[in-house]
Amino acid sequence: MRGVIFLLSLACFVMMTYSQQCRQVLTTVCDDDVVNSSMQKGDKGDVGRSGKSGIPGAQGHPGAKGEPGGAGQKGMQGESCALGSLGTDIVTRLAKIEELLTPPSTTTMATTTVTTTTTSSITSCSTTSSSNGPHTLTSGVEVYCEDEWTIFQRRIDGSVNFSRPWDDYANGFGQIDGEFWLGLDNIHEMTRRGGCRLKIELWDFAGNQAHADYSSFSIESAENLYRLHVSGYSGNAGDSLALSNGYPFSTEDNDNDSWNGDCATSNGGSQGWWFSDCAHSFLNGVWMRQSSGSWHGIIWYHWKRTTEPLKETKMKLRCD
Ligand SMILES: *[C@@H]1O[C@H](CO)[C@@H](O)[C@H](O)[C@H]1NC(C)=O
Ligand SMILES: *[C@@H]1O[C@H](CO)[C@@H](O)[C@H](O)[C@H]1NC(C)=O
Ligand SMILES: *[C@@H]1O[C@H](CO)[C@@H](O)[C@H](O)[C@H]1NC(C)=O
Repeated sequence: MRGVIFLLSLACFVMMTYSQQCRQVLTTVCDDDVVNSSMQKGDKGDVGRSGKSGIPGAQGHPGAKGEPGGAGQKGMQGESCALGSLGTDIVTRLAKIEELLTPPSTTTMATTTVTTTTTSSITSCSTTSSSNGPHTLTSGVEVYCEDEWTIFQRRIDGSVNFSRPWDDYANGFGQIDGEFWLGLDNIHEMTRRGGCRLKIELWDFAGNQAHADYSSFSIESAENLYRLHVSGYSGNAGDSLALSNGYPFSTEDNDNDSWNGDCATSNGGSQGWWFSDCAHSFLNGVWMRQSSGSWHGIIWYHWKRTTEPLKETKMKLRCD
């Protein structure tokens, strides 16, 4: 008897989308079923399971505090991420193969916005004999060199507003001797030949320092949404970039994250970063002394969790 009712419910559930009348019928049948079955033994719960389709909507805030393997809060757990990145990884690899098959000159012409004046590719600090400080590369790009590393992101004091649209993150903004973002096109050009490392230095408001190093680092082209590739972590800050590995860059006006909300705007501002659903790091977050909420501020989860914003950051690359 229960089987028949279940089939009836199932059939009606499917038809429900098409027929308002059927909805009426279903409601009647189901109501009877519930009332009567409540007088029987308590294993009726199985029918109720169809409510499961509601779960995606419940994917709450990007808050994403989830430590790997924690209770299923907000989709930040290792499991779902592993699944997600597996699929993305394949797409990424295909995209990479495609990119490799494309003649270099074509790619250069297609992507460039800042480096329009020269056909020679951008070098970086490691290929110049420049001393530490601001330096203009032969390509015309202004960089800040530090021990042959090229700084491509720096936060110090909140003097530059990082709430910006896609084009600004693509082209770069800020003050080269202060706070700035070098631009995704430039970072892509510098890292596209491979052999690059990434060094991240972090400071909290008490003056403590931590660092995260990656032995391999590259950014894909604009067509591939500047997907991030990092591996080979070492350091004492924790690997808070792993969750962003293989994912495209996202801004408010170019939401390519894999969350059904908008990671770029859910943190008290509108900043770009490499988000899955969402991230364990957010070095472009709003500069603030006191957190105004979970994930507000400059975040490196594995060092300071989500409620203690960082004061200063440096992201720099070096290619051999
Ligand atoms: C429960 O089922 C009986 C038949 O077994 C039916 O007569 C009755 O109307 C049902 N109860 C309700 C509340 O609909
Ligand atoms: C930063 O810029 C955004 C967008 O223009 C603006 O809404 C926001 O108020 C600015 N923030 C500060 C602190 O100036
Ligand atoms: C990236 O985001 C934009 C805006 O949300 C969207 O139009 C575009 O289709 C996305 N690209 C991909 C490859 O998902």
